[in-house]
Amino acid sequence: MSITTVATTPIEGQKPGTSGLRKKTPVFMGPHYLENFVQSIFDGTGGAQGKVYVLGGDGRYFNDRAAQVILRMAAANGAARVIVGQGAILSTPAASNLIRKRGADGGIIMSASHNPGGPEEDFGVKFNAANGGPAPEGMTAKIFDATKALSEYHILEAQDVDLSVPGESRLGEMVVEVVDPVTDYAALMADIFDFDKIRTLFASGFRMRFDAMHAVTGPYAKAILEGTLGAPAGTVVNAVPSPDFGGGHPDPNPIWAKTLMDEMYGDSAPDFGAASDGDGDRNMIVGRHAYVTPSDSLAVLAANATLVPAYAKGLAGVARSMPTSKALDRVADALGIDCYETPTGWKYFGNLLDAGRATLCGEESAGTGSDHVREKDGLWAVLFWLNVLAERKMSVAEILADHWQKFGRNFYSRHDYEAVDSAAAEGLMQGLRDALATLPGTDAAGLTVETADEFTYNDPVDASLSTGQGIRIGLADGGRVVYRLSGTGTEGATLRVYLERVETDPARFDADPQDALAGIIAAADALADIKGRTGRSAPDVIT
Ligand code: G1P
Ligand code: ZN
Repeated sequence: MSITTVATTPIEGQKPGTSGLRKKTPVFMGPHYLENFVQSIFDGTGGAQGKVYVLGGDGRYFNDRAAQVILRMAAANGAARVIVGQGAILSTPAASNLIRKRGADGGIIMSASHNPGGPEEDFGVKFNAANGGPAPEGMTAKIFDATKALSEYHILEAQDVDLSVPGESRLGEMVVEVVDPVTDYAALMADIFDFDKIRTLFASGFRMRFDAMHAVTGPYAKAILEGTLGAPAGTVVNAVPSPDFGGGHPDPNPIWAKTLMDEMYGDSAPDFGAASDGDGDRNMIVGRHAYVTPSDSLAVLAANATLVPAYAKGLAGVARSMPTSKALDRVADALGIDCYETPTGWKYFGNLLDAGRATLCGEESAGTGSDHVREKDGLWAVLFWLNVLAERKMSVAEILADHWQKFGRNFYSRHDYEAVDSAAAEGLMQGLRDALATLPGTDAAGLTVETADEFTYNDPVDASLSTGQGIRIGLADGGRVVYRLSGTGTEGATLRVYLERVETDPARFDADPQDALAGIIAAADALADIKGRTGRSAPDVIT
């Protein structure tokens, strides 16, 4: 075996501030592309010499080939050990857990999350730091700089490593340790939740459907729900990870998980439904005839946290991304704990979790998590709900109704305008920016604006500033409109408009969210002149 140093040209690498690099699969498979990015990760993080890494991915097309390349490069760069999930499989939360548990220096996760996979679809690589979380901004900036400075990469000439059975082997000087992807994660879940209670719930005839969407949570959900917790066989569907996710879009929301939604709203709906995304960090929760928005789910979990053994002593604090509904704030108020508002993106929760200032956190985009790992965690959220259902002996719909009764209902919706002309989208944001100072105290399209600003996050732990994180328009009575441009869209710009209104009259809790928000939706359009600037008369996606 010999180390080859390959001269190369830099790639257009990951933008600072984004966690990981996502491109079309053929781009990643192109000459030197994956290699350049992996070398940049090593170069940008002080080199791989003597280091221990975790490696795994969501099983999408090219996952297995990419793992072999990354292993050969880690070996050539002097890494001491790489802990790999069997078959090169690891869910994102399981990878985060392994990094922490094994005290690794970091981890490389192969995934493009909820984006479709396949020869013509998306692939991605992301680096997680030693705390188990997505590389923080300073680190991604260094990796980005490394992509610019790169002139060569190192790779070992060797045969493929057998990743099909657990055990240790050597690749050059480096140890490759293949581990079962589920074992450590399942043990962590058993530490957090009351598995006996959940087992009793299933034994009592409680019925559940978990849609793994042909993605990575299949094996995890099968082992934990059907194996350990005794849910009937067949509870988990689409449980075998496939390279193209069965041709689907592994994003757990009412649109992409429509089969599950139809079943949950049908006549013989099970008691509880859930789904997770490509790499297992997102979740969808739905009761019988009762879809739970991610923002509400986060608030309900916070309000019920002490029913779960790991959180029985109470929460240190909670955190939500800025556009996530303020339902969580109302729970935090009632509990007398801090509620932090962070920019969109999981990495901003890291400092708060590391510092012990937040225990639970979440995003409106179906991400919920806690200080047990440093990623959002789909199956964890599902088990949390099961634990709460087992304790409260109420249906999902009853738990929601009870929650709104106590805290009011934050009607909430996100409207996405996709593949908008980038200049038009920038112009729309600039137009809003220019108007910010004049808005407070005025009536905008029939709504009373109380506050208007562009969100800057001042990290309370390390005092770092993140500017330009979205435009917030605060309305009388707790409503809000938020505008921001997506950081993950791949074509043109994606404008996201987040709409929110607080309802305290129980007689109106059952309204359709789009109806309840109609006034705010119209005002949000008028305020930003969405139609005029983008030429779009309706959003592409409403969640
Ligand atoms: C989207 C979500 C955000 C999430 C991110 C990565 O980012 O809105 O909450 O953290 O994907 O999963 P966006 O495209 O809005 O920048
Ligand atoms: Zn994901």
